[in-house]
Amino acid sequence: QQQQQQQQQQQQQKLVFGSFPSDIQILQKPEGLLNGNLFEKSNLDLSKPANSSPYAFQHQSERGKQQQHHVGNYRETLRPPPGFSGKPRGGGGSRDFGARRNHLEHNVDKLRAEYSQLSNDTEMGLRGQFDHPGPPAGSGTDIKESLIELHRFGGGQVDEVGERIIESLLIEEESEDKNDKKHHRHEKESRLDNRGQRLLSQRVRMLKRQMECRSDIHRLNAPLLAIYESLNPPKEEKTKQQQLLASLQKLVWKEWPQAKLFLYGSCANGFGVSRSDIDICLALNEDINNKSEILLKLADILQSDNLQNVQALTRARVPIVKLMDPVTGISCDICINNVLAVVNTKLLRDYAQIDARLRQLAFIVKHWAKSRGVNETYRGTLSSYAYVLMCIHFLQQRRPAILPCLQGMEKTYNVTVDNIECAYFDQIEKLHNFGSSNKETVAQLVWGFFNYWAYGHDYANSVISVRTGSIISKQEKDWTRRIGNDRHLICIEDPFETSHDLGRVVDKFSIRVLREEFERAADIMQFDPNPCVKLFEPYVHS
Ligand code: CTP
Ligand code: MG
Repeated sequence: QQQQQQQQQQQQQKLVFGSFPSDIQILQKPEGLLNGNLFEKSNLDLSKPANSSPYAFQHQSERGKQQQHHVGNYRETLRPPPGFSGKPRGGGGSRDFGARRNHLEHNVDKLRAEYSQLSNDTEMGLRGQFDHPGPPAGSGTDIKESLIELHRFGGGQVDEVGERIIESLLIEEESEDKNDKKHHRHEKESRLDNRGQRLLSQRVRMLKRQMECRSDIHRLNAPLLAIYESLNPPKEEKTKQQQLLASLQKLVWKEWPQAKLFLYGSCANGFGVSRSDIDICLALNEDINNKSEILLKLADILQSDNLQNVQALTRARVPIVKLMDPVTGISCDICINNVLAVVNTKLLRDYAQIDARLRQLAFIVKHWAKSRGVNETYRGTLSSYAYVLMCIHFLQQRRPAILPCLQGMEKTYNVTVDNIECAYFDQIEKLHNFGSSNKETVAQLVWGFFNYWAYGHDYANSVISVRTGSIISKQEKDWTRRIGNDRHLICIEDPFETSHDLGRVVDKFSIRVLREEFERAADIMQFDPNPCVKLFEPYVHS
């Protein structure tokens, strides 16, 4: 039994996670901590036995006021990249102090309703974009011209093969949705989107798939890299995040001395753009029967400590407490015991360290998705997490490959979370040259990414799988039928929770919106004289 305990402890030691390796340090470095990799100096881990003293981590500075000044300056001088509104983050100053506990209860439905009221503006001139694609800058081959023609005639036709299969994924829709008010609302919102009326036919997709990349693609490299740089968060932002994390940790310890806070999501996975909100997981060492109760207690604690806009969303799919810190201006979401997200955050972060082109591509794709309004799961489009997985998968598929398949390699990291074994090769420092024989630039990769999702991907039969570094079939996953609200119209396998299709939020309306947006992006990358502006032109929901 002792041996078993020891083994368990060793395994836990590997679940180490942190986002600010150089600034927040573990005071006592647990033994066996990840063989000196990037997480060696991580801020938090789950390695301490349950009965040990609370986690000790050191915050290197307490420069609150000074830094706020910095952030102020930064906000004033930073020019938002194309498509960014540049509005300040979070609720920015609106207060709801003193709200009583039952006023904290909000749910996602309410937010959805509020959101749809906000969106009354008119649609951008997308049609024009399709009917008059820009001249192929730098070249004008016959193939390209004939493709433009095909595009014109192809638009609006139904992709028959795909459509038949999609129908089977929509079976049961009518009967099931009758009693599903939430779902109705979601679909109604999707229908308000005027996009998705003009998808290419399968025939045109096949032709476009063979299209060669525009010859002046290299011209786009510098501007795309400049956009990437402008999205990259400045160092001060990390310092602010650390400051907030440290003060939240202190607060939480008062109520739950064994609790640990883990950062996850974009603030920790290497794919966070400037001024992102931060995601925190509160890991409690106890069995939780009533998450809502804990969330409400947490909300009370946070509210009494002058944090602003504190809301407990107890009925969301992932229940969270939202808050805004008036000192740093950062908004954050805190969830409870969502350790799988902490682990998949580490996987993404490890991939990000292997080849710089992943972050470049993913920043551009996320920026595009946010600008075009297709990064909204409550409207049936994809999460940022899904887009990053799409980018990783795309780079695994390049020949020569730009990224390896970490889960297909020797397992140097292994942890079991919620009965799911999460294991992969995490000695990233050994993989720095992995993609060096592939010389593709970010411009070529952005072009290739949109080309793949517009014309190359087989939506009817394929699942993209970062876990295997390959395409697998829907048949193999049994994702050929609609079950409940999971439709599998675009299939992205979660690397650890393999029964989870990240595309399951996508419905029969939003799949068309998504695909039209991929086609628009591919078209712009191929033909537009100024793709770096056009690509990110904000879409305003009608
Ligand atoms: N996550 C998950 N399963 C999902 C969606 C999200 O496990 N279906 C977890 C992942 O750990 C992900 C985190 O939640 O990193 C945050 O998800 P998301 O908001 O989609 O991504 P961010 O990287 O935080 O992107 P953004 O910059 O848009 O906040
Ligand atoms: Mg996030």
